[in-house]
Amino acid sequence: MTAPGPHMPTPDRDESRRRFFKFLAASPLAALAYASLPHGWLEELAAKEPVDPFVPGSWRVPECVSCGAPILPPAAAPANAHLSLPTRQQAPQQIPPQNAQEEQLTGSLIASPEDAVNVWDFERVTHENNLAQHWDYLHMGVEDYETRRANREGFNRLALRTRRLSAEPPKRPDTSIEILGQRFNSPLFLCPVAALQAYHTQGEAGAGRAARRRGILQIQSNQSSMSYEEIAEARGEPHWFQIYTQPDWNRNKRLIDRVAAAGCPTLVWTVDLLGGSNRELARRSVVGEGTQGALCQNCHNHQQGYQRPMNRDSGPAGERIPYTWDWVSRLKDASDMNFVIKGIVTAEDAEMAIEHGADGIFVSNHGGRAENSLWASIDSLPEVVAAVRGRVPVMIDSGVRRGTDVFKALALGADAVGIGRPYVWGLGAFGEDGVDRVIQLIMAELGIVMGQTQTTSVAEINSRFVMERPNPIMMRHNELGFGL
Ligand code: FNR
Ligand code: LAC
Repeated sequence: MTAPGPHMPTPDRDESRRRFFKFLAASPLAALAYASLPHGWLEELAAKEPVDPFVPGSWRVPECVSCGAPILPPAAAPANAHLSLPTRQQAPQQIPPQNAQEEQLTGSLIASPEDAVNVWDFERVTHENNLAQHWDYLHMGVEDYETRRANREGFNRLALRTRRLSAEPPKRPDTSIEILGQRFNSPLFLCPVAALQAYHTQGEAGAGRAARRRGILQIQSNQSSMSYEEIAEARGEPHWFQIYTQPDWNRNKRLIDRVAAAGCPTLVWTVDLLGGSNRELARRSVVGEGTQGALCQNCHNHQQGYQRPMNRDSGPAGERIPYTWDWVSRLKDASDMNFVIKGIVTAEDAEMAIEHGADGIFVSNHGGRAENSLWASIDSLPEVVAAVRGRVPVMIDSGVRRGTDVFKALALGADAVGIGRPYVWGLGAFGEDGVDRVIQLIMAELGIVMGQTQTTSVAEINSRFVMERPNPIMMRHNELGFGL
C-alpha cells in the first residue's frame, strides 16, 4: 500500500505564512494573539522565529508601509497600549482575521487537527495528501453523485424548532446511549469503510483508537486493510464487524466464527450493493491497464491478502447469487452475535428483516454509492422507524456532517447515527488525531444543539424539534463536489 505522505503546505500558503511570521516577529500587539494561533503554526513559529512576546526589546510596533503610522489591531485597548508591555496576567487580544470568509469558501488547508473548525476542513487536506485514485474512490457517488447531494439536501431541508427556556435550570447535556447491550458516550459512530490504509498508514487501528478515546462505536468493514484482531487490539476492546457475504457459505461461516471468537458483539450485513452499483468515477479514475497497471500493482501486490476495493467498481466481488430473506435468519443463527442489516430504506424491508430475526435495522444508501435513487437517507428514516415500532434499534448514516444532522436523525427516531467519509477525511489528513478531532467537532456541535433545544438527554430529542422546509438550503458545494 502506498503510505500517504505527511501533509505538505502549498507554496503559496508557505509564502503567506512566512509573511505572517515576519509580521508577528515585528509586532508586540500581534504577539498578544499567540494564544489564539493554531497549534501547528505556533510550533512552526517557534522553530523559525526566536520571538517571545514577554521579552522586551525583541519586537517593535509594526508601521504602515505607506505613511509610517503605527498599526494597531482595532480592538487592541487604549491608544497608548503599544507603549506598554503585556503582562502574563492580561487576557490575550485577538487579531481579527482579514479573510476568514474567503478562507472558508476557498477551503484553504489546515495545518493541524486543532485548526479545524468543521469536518470539511479535513476534506481538502486528505485530497491533497492522497493519490488521485484513492481520493476518487473515497469521494465518488454513483453516476453523477445526485444521491450524495440528496443526502445533504435531506438534512438541509429539515429545520430545527428550538426552545428557549426550561422548567428546571439546564443540566449539561448527556449524549450517552445504549444500543444492543453496549453503552457509548454518543449516538455518533464510525461506519464501516473499506481499506483505510489507503488514506493513512494507521488505517483502521488509528480510527479505532480515536473512537475508543471518545467512547464511540466503530464498525469494521469486511474489506478493511487490517484484521479484526489487530484493530480490536489497537482499540482495546472488541468492535462491530460488517460482512459482505460470499456465495460459498463455508467462507461466510469461517469469517463469522473468527470474529465471534475474537469477541465481536454484533455482526452487520450490508445488503445495498447486492444489486450492483454504477460507479462511473471509479471507471474514469483507473484507466489504461486499470488496476493491473504499475501504479496500482506496485502497492497492492506487496501485501498478501490485501483488499483492493477499487478493483470492484460494481460492488463486492463474487458471483451474484439470489440472496433471499432466509439469509437473514441464516446469518443470525450462525453465531451468538447480534445481527444488524445495513442498507434498508423502506418500511417493507424493515418489516421483513425483523420477521427474519434482525436485531437492528441500519438505514443507509451507502453514502450515495449504491443505487442512484435520489432519495436522501434521512428522508427514508421516518417510514422505517414507523415500521420498526421500537422493536429493535434503528441506525442511520449517509450525509451526516454536523451535530445538527445527528440531532435531526435522533429526532426522527434513529438510535445511533454514523459517519463515513468525514472520519476518513480526518484520518487521511492527520491519522488518529484527525479522526479524534472529527468526532470531537460533531459531538460538540450536538452538545450545542441540545443546549439550543433545552434537551438534556438523547431520550428527550423527539420529532417536535424538527420540521420540513419546502426547499433545502445548500451552502457548500462546488464544481468538484467538495463540501458534500
Ligand atoms: C463505504 N461504505 C461501506 N459500507 C460497508 O458496509 N462496507 C464497506 O466496506 C464500505 N466501504 C466504503 C468505502 C468508502 C470509501 C465509503 C465512502 C463508504 C459505506 C459506509 O459504511 C457508509 O454507509 C457511508 O460512508 C455513509 O455515508 P457518508 O457519511 O460517507 O456520507
Ligand atoms: C464501497 C464498498 C466496498 O462502498 O462498500 O466501496
